[in-house]
Amino acid sequence: MPKVIAIYPGSFDPPTNGHLDLIERGSNIFDELVVAILRNADKAPLFSVNERVGMLKSLTSHYGNVRVDTFDGLTVDYAARVGASSLLRGIRALSDYEYELQMALMNRKLRPELETVFMMPAEKYSYLSSRLVREVAQLGGSVKGLVPELVEENLRGKLDPAYRLGEFREAVEKKKPRTRKRA
Ligand code: PNS
Repeated sequence: MPKVIAIYPGSFDPPTNGHLDLIERGSNIFDELVVAILRNADKAPLFSVNERVGMLKSLTSHYGNVRVDTFDGLTVDYAARVGASSLLRGIRALSDYEYELQMALMNRKLRPELETVFMMPAEKYSYLSSRLVREVAQLGGSVKGLVPELVEENLRGKLDPAYRLGEFREAVEKKKPRTRKRA
């Protein structure tokens, strides 16, 4: 039997417990699962692609059949490059369905042989998203239990007051009007 390879594409900024739950489920049903981080130059991510690769690699190192990679361009082209026949996506609530359906059908139009497989994360993560984790962490709320400890630590590093003060100072320096020199 040929190996069934699946890709699990996404932004993973940052990886959450919902993502890891899905990786676990995916690793149980596919021979090989490639967690594929989109390199998107348009977005201003909180974590760089390299930071996300590092986090996901250490969070998935105990799976023998999971690897982490990055990609540019169309997901279907990436899937073809790595020989994947399935594309894994998580569906949390009904609200995800419309966007996910659109994407799955567009991907099917582009590459009919690539099958999108939807899986549901554990119920306790059904409200969880990277966007909310970023927002809560940036506003000083606790994200304990929503992201792995490693991600929590890295979020703290990014958003630590000393770090933020440095960023703030830099922004202020850039905005300062030039003082006129006296004649
Ligand atoms: O984690 P996200 O941000 O919901 O992931 C979205 C992702 C990366 C799966 C989607 O934006 C994507 O596939 N982008 C690659 C470009 C592409 O193939 N676009 C057409 C998809 S229908």
